[in-house]
Amino acid sequence: MTISMIVAYGKNWEIGLNNQMLWHISEDFKNFKTITSGHHILMGRKTFESIGKPLPNRTSLVLTRGDFEHEGVHTFSDVQEAFNFARQNAEEELFIIGGANIYETLFPYVDKMYLSEVDYEGEADAYLKEIDFSTWDLAQQKDYAAVISNDEVVSPAWKFKVWVKKD
Ligand SMILES: NC(=O)c1ccc[n+]([C@@H]2O[C@H](COP(=O)([O-])OP(=O)(O)OC[C@H]3O[C@@H](n4cnc5c(N)ncnc54)[C@H](OP(=O)(O)O)[C@@H]3O)[C@@H](O)[C@H]2O)c1
Repeated sequence: MTISMIVAYGKNWEIGLNNQMLWHISEDFKNFKTITSGHHILMGRKTFESIGKPLPNRTSLVLTRGDFEHEGVHTFSDVQEAFNFARQNAEEELFIIGGANIYETLFPYVDKMYLSEVDYEGEADAYLKEIDFSTWDLAQQKDYAAVISNDEVVSPAWKFKVWVKKD
């Protein structure tokens, strides 16, 4: 089973504020939906609460050390148990979808990264740990322009990149 992570981050590696996303980029959301649909998605309890409900067409796995439960999600207190659950369901590619705590803890297990580099700088309280790309190969890149309306940036420019861990 490939273990992938998918994340959107700003120029200073910022990913969230007050348990919310920092931008709204509809193309990025669509992309996220297309990539993760049909798969198991693994997240921390705080990210699940930020989303608020299980995402359709995906199997939601939530990590918690507490007694958190929610209809339609599978909760785990142990990372390996969550991985095993996905393997037992014949998952071929599991997606780690955040947040900061989970990206940092699970980074050593990640084989493939789907990164959205957003042209954004601003206040944040959740950050991705800086990635050293020297041990990764760039497999795919697509650049997206900002959406501007009435001289205002409706959504920032971003680059979508897929990276695969070197052997
Ligand atoms: N930009 C993006 O792509 C993106 C994606 C996702 C999230 N985010 C942002 O990230 C922020 C949330 O990140 P966060 O770091 O605060 O929280 P988080 O990583 O979503 O969740 C942390 C929680 O996960 C549980 N947990 C963590 N490690 C565990 C382990 N080893 N075993 C079992 N449970 C474990 C704990 O839950 P308990 O406290 O219940 O024990 C912990 O409090 C939000 O601002 C969100 O909007 C951004």
